[in-house]
Amino acid sequence: MTGKVRVIIYWSHDLTMLSQQLLKQYTADGFLVIENFASHNDCDVLRMRAEELVDAFDPAEVVSIFSTHEQNRLTDDYFLTSGDKIRFFLEANAFNADGSLKYPKKKSINKIGHALHDLDPFFDRFSRDANVRELATALGFDKPLLLQSMYIFKQPNIGGEVTCHQDSTFLYTEPLELAGLWFALEDATVENGCLWAIPGGHRSGLKSRWLRSDQGMKFEVYDPKPWPENDLVPLEVSKGSLIVLHGLLPHRSFENKSERSRHAYTLHLIDAEAKYPADNWLQRSASMPPRGFD
Ligand code: FE2
Repeated sequence: MTGKVRVIIYWSHDLTMLSQQLLKQYTADGFLVIENFASHNDCDVLRMRAEELVDAFDPAEVVSIFSTHEQNRLTDDYFLTSGDKIRFFLEANAFNADGSLKYPKKKSINKIGHALHDLDPFFDRFSRDANVRELATALGFDKPLLLQSMYIFKQPNIGGEVTCHQDSTFLYTEPLELAGLWFALEDATVENGCLWAIPGGHRSGLKSRWLRSDQGMKFEVYDPKPWPENDLVPLEVSKGSLIVLHGLLPHRSFENKSERSRHAYTLHLIDAEAKYPADNWLQRSASMPPRGFD
């Protein structure tokens, strides 16, 4: 870990806060931390809504276990067809050997994805807030599309790790134009599994793509060198903070071994002008193409 000091912005609901200088910082580091972006009340509304969705979910309908090691779900239809649905994914560590759940379902959920922002009115409202739209414009998107959303629970004690990766590996566009918006719905610390990132790591290019092929999903590797994980820095943030992640920024999170959950909501933006390949894992049906902020 380096001792690099990161820039923290305090969102003042004023577009000028994302001045050219701060965009230079985003270009240099590959991420921005914006404190105080969402109100605590808005965070709580999403948390309550996620709880309602989980309450209404029947685990018997889950045909697969979500694993953070993507290669374990190569033929996972439940996952691969979730791009325009609201689906529930369980922690790999939540199961007994016989396949039954070790914990109540609300303690076993890993995440909900991937079209909450289009199909649920509460997530739609949060995702298409005027501040998010302004931010997308300030980040340089001409015609932003809201491609993907996830509600991530990072459960106490069993919340799994997410290994080091670039989001563009999974959501590839030509040209590479992808931003991940990571909203902390609770305080995120080293103890409960906050994000870690390699400052400037987005400048070393795309390492791989995860794509559809005749043999199922596969990784196409362009650079097999391991990540310089000694350069990772923790991005500890308070509830209501937003972390903006460049699509090429290497980042990860560790297991949550603490007693506290670490809920987060993520949204991925692409530009309508960029080419979105048909072999990306996430595909939307023709009747439900990705929408912008309108
Ligand atoms: Fe990611």
